[in-house]
This record gives sequence, C-alpha cells and structure tokens, in this order.
Amino acid sequence: MIVQESFDTDAMHPLSRIQQRFRDALQGMAADVEPYVAMVKPAQDARHGDYQANCAMSLAKTLGKKPRDIAQQIVGKLDLGDLLQAPEIAGPGFINLRLRDDWIAARLRDMAADERLGVAAAQAPRTIVIDFSSPNVAKPMHVGHLRSTIIGDALARLFRFLGHRVIADNHLGDWGTQFGMLLHAFKNFRDEQALKSDPVREMLRLYLKVRELMRAAEVDEDDAGPSARTYSADEIAQARQVADAARTETARLHAGDAENVALWEQFMPWCLEEIDRIYRRLDVRFDHTHGESFYNPMLDGVVRDLLDKKIAEESQGAIAIFLDPERKQPPALVRKKDGAFTYTTSDLATIRYRADTWQPDAMLYVVDARQALHFKNLFTAARKWGYDKVALEHVSFGSVLGEDRKPLKTREGGAVELGSLIEEAVARAGQMYEQIRAERIERGDEVPELTAEERKQIEEAVGIGAVKYADLCQNRATDYVFSWSKMLAMTGNTATYMQYAYARNRSIFRKGDVDVSRFRASPPPVVVAHPAERALAMELLRLEETLHSAAAEYQPSDITNYLWNLSKSYSSFFDKCPVLKADTPELRDSRLLLCDLTARTIQQCLGLLGIRTIEMM
Ligand code: ARG
Repeated sequence: MIVQESFDTDAMHPLSRIQQRFRDALQGMAADVEPYVAMVKPAQDARHGDYQANCAMSLAKTLGKKPRDIAQQIVGKLDLGDLLQAPEIAGPGFINLRLRDDWIAARLRDMAADERLGVAAAQAPRTIVIDFSSPNVAKPMHVGHLRSTIIGDALARLFRFLGHRVIADNHLGDWGTQFGMLLHAFKNFRDEQALKSDPVREMLRLYLKVRELMRAAEVDEDDAGPSARTYSADEIAQARQVADAARTETARLHAGDAENVALWEQFMPWCLEEIDRIYRRLDVRFDHTHGESFYNPMLDGVVRDLLDKKIAEESQGAIAIFLDPERKQPPALVRKKDGAFTYTTSDLATIRYRADTWQPDAMLYVVDARQALHFKNLFTAARKWGYDKVALEHVSFGSVLGEDRKPLKTREGGAVELGSLIEEAVARAGQMYEQIRAERIERGDEVPELTAEERKQIEEAVGIGAVKYADLCQNRATDYVFSWSKMLAMTGNTATYMQYAYARNRSIFRKGDVDVSRFRASPPPVVVAHPAERALAMELLRLEETLHSAAAEYQPSDITNYLWNLSKSYSSFFDKCPVLKADTPELRDSRLLLCDLTARTIQQCLGLLGIRTIEMM
C-alpha cells in the first residue's frame, strides 16, 4: 500500500538494518529476494536471540537444496559489521540473530540525544487525508462515535509524528434527516425562554423530544435503542405522522426552502458547540470540518459528470452506477427516483474535492465495520471515475459492547451519550485516585501534596486516558467489552498503569535529586551488562519499528502492545538492577539514562495515542 512504501526506505531501526543486510546477502539466490527478506522478524522467544530469519527453509524448497546448507550459505554472505554477533543456525535451518551489546549501547546514547527518540521523519512525506469522528450532528454524540474519534485521532498523531502531511477532516453528517426532526420540533415545541438562555440545551431537548415522539414508528433505529414496551396502534399512527412531518421538513431543506435553510444556519453553531466541547475535552482536533452540507452544492455537477463519462446511467427512474459487470449485485444509486441525492453521491463529491484540493496520496476512512459495503462500492465507483492513483482505505473497526456482549446501551436501553461517559470516567478516576492515595498514606508511602487544580488534571488525564487506552489496545477489527473496572485497573495493560509507571519513574529523578537535562544534552555511556538491562535496551530500540508497523496496519494496538512489553521489561529491570544505589557512578548514570529513556518513550507513545502523562501523582 502506498502509505507503507515510504517507511521501508526511511527506517533505520534494527530490524530494517538487519533486513537490509539480508537483502544484500540474498542477492543472486532468488529472482525476487523481498519475500525472503520479509522473513526476518523479531524472535518470538528471547532465548533464540533478538531476531530470527526463517527464509532458509522456503528458499531451500524452491532451490531443491538442504535448508541448513542454504542457511550456512546466507550466513556466510551476511555482513555482520558492528551490528550483529555471529549468527547461530538452529533446528531445520533457523538463523538466530543477536545484536552486539556495544552497538545497542551506542544506539541508546543516540536515542537519548535525539528529541525524536531515534525515530526518523519520512524522507518522502505523504499527504494523507483522514476522515474520522464524522458524527451526525443535531443529536448528542454517543458511544458509537467514540472509536472513530479516538482511533482516527491516534492515526493522525502517528502519521504526523512520522513526518507526513496529515489532513484531519471531520465529515460531519450535518445535512441528514435529523435536521428534519429538529426543524419539526423547533416549529412545534420550542421554548422561547430556554432558547434565549441556553440554545444548545434547548436543541438537545427538542431533538430528544421528537425522537421520543417517533419512537413507536421505529424510524431512528440508529440510536433509539430497543423499545422498552410495545405501542398501541394509536401511538404508532401518531409516531408515523411525526416521522412524515420530519421527512417533509428534510425534503424542504434539501430543496433550498428559505425558511428551513435559515433555521438550519441558526441551528448549526449550537449543534457544533455541543460536539466541540467533547472534542476539547478529548484533546481531539481537526484541520477541517467539511460536513455533508459543504458538498451539497456540488452534487448536481457530480451526477452530470458521472452521466457524461458514462459511469452512471438511468435505471428505473433513478441514476445508478453498476459496479458488478455481470449486474447481479444491486447498483449504487447516486440519485433516487424522487430526485434526492444519496450518501454515495455526497461521498463521491468529497473524494473529488479532496483529490483536487490537497492531491493526497491516501484517503483513510475511520468508520464502523458496518459500512464496509458502502466503502467497497464507493471506492470501486471512484476508481472508475478516474481516482485510481490515490489509495482509498476503509479503516474499519468493531463495536463497543456491554457486559452482556450486546452493543453498549444505558440501563434504559438508549445510546450511551459521550458527554456523560466522559463525566463518569473522570468521576471514577477521581474515586480511584482517592482510594489509592489513602492506601499509600496508610502504608507510609510518600504521596505528593496536590492543589485542587492538580487533582483535577490527574482525574481528567486518568479518566479520559483509561477510556482511550481501553479502546486503542484492542485490535481495531474486533468488538470489545466496555468495562470500567478493567480500564481503570492499576495493573495490567491500561493507561492508568502506564501513567503510574511514568510518574514513578519521574520520582526517581526527584528522589535522587538528579538533573534530567544532563541525560539528554550529553548522554553518559550506556552499559548493557545485566540480562534485564539488555532486555530493556532491546525494547527501547524497538520504538521506531513499532510505530512503522502501527502506521502500516493502521493499528494503534501495536503501540499499546509495545508499551505493555516495555513496561514489563522496565519493571523487571527495576527489580533486578539498583539504580540510585548502583555499584559505581558509571552504572548509576547508565541506569538513570535507561530510566529516562523509558519515561520519554512511554510519554511519546501515550502522546501518540492522545493520552496525557502526569509528572507527579
Ligand atoms: N456520518 C456518518 C455516520 O455517522 C459517517 C461518515 C463517515 N465518513 C464518510 N465520508 N462517509 O454514519
């Protein structure tokens, strides 16, 4: 994929250096050596070395030779330089590789002196549009928007850090049927007083009111939740009437009705205020917020162009793009029989606009897996239309489930609103912090004196960090169960654990009265003697490799998995290797440097996930 290509050439991390040496050694042994180069990987088991190559076996098969002989031949041609110790051939022909300790030590010093912790910025930066969050406004943001918002934000941060030009675009649903609902509610039920004093809240009330009125008609199944009861025929008829009225208002808005357009313009800032509050709280920002309404004026032209280029055609009164040459699958409609444009029309206009405006190399859509078919069809249509150079990728993700393994709902069966979820996270973080603090005081541990403001900072960082981390640490393709107790756990792969590890690490420097800047401005020599020291050092050197794989797979969980491994290596190092009480001043300095690098790496990784660290907690 286009985004991936730029990494391999820039990378200077151990894996890519070793792979480069294999590339050279394998020349002449196969027409295309790349598949064999890709078989050099981090070792699964540290006892087998740091990295392992299993290319000899498959190469031997193609060449009709003995695997161990081929392994021998590769090793004979491998340039070890100052990078590798003498390789070991094991079992059927595995090549086990260990980095030289002096090489590791030198790289750690480089890493410490580098603000970017040794992560190179892309030599060939790509322009990447990331379409994420993209809620349908006029209704409260709910838990269904959580994943797109935080996965998209993490990817934007990651690509930006890797040196790419990122355009974060919030493709708001600001033109849909929910505005018809709001228009109907506004015209019939608005409270002038409330509208003057708090329009944002009044919008919310109106939306919820009309949604409630429509509930029996089950129109807005997206977030209405399962009906709590059965409805009488009367209620259903009434609900249908409201739904019809709302639909009429939407149609009027789309047709350019002056009153509805003016009201829409009045509503929008109120709706945006509500969602912006949530973005600010989550530390999420966008370069652009071009919602569906932005593309509305372009839709007619898009359909005309599609017809002119014979990509779309008339079919049963509608205008359609047939994507399946055999015409067995239903086509994608770009204009319905009644003249209305579709989600596809609007997304095609969006692709054209983005391509013309930013000339991106890739457009990523961080959207729920349930929209897979829409994107598959959209991308096929776009390529037919001529947008075949830009990489189009649906970065899809699974659902957030409740403890009952069904999509997460409130006790009443409604959608969990994002605003209240954040409030709860922060409140729970506050309680947890209180409890842990009390336990620490009881044990006689040192606890920092904190101002109310500092306390608030901790609660926000811990609560929101927990929610983000619990989501990002899942393979994004799968569903996951939302659990407060798991995400705020003090041990295990959680943000809370990482934040504590970071703060405890910082306290070593305070306790030893050590000036950190010395370890960055002119890092002392590093000693990698103890196995626990070496294991930690190896983990630290894997940062760049990790970020590249996370970016190539659009998988933030690569970063959390890495943090988990790093923190385990760190605690084992900390158990076994005295730092402030090390035997010699040189060893103490070297170990302090490892501590500082660990803290910086944790902070960097959490930062890329949109999670804050706290110096003292
Ligand atoms: N507003 C849509 C929804 O809530 C998501 C939009 C995703 N982006 C896109 N370009 N289609 O389902």
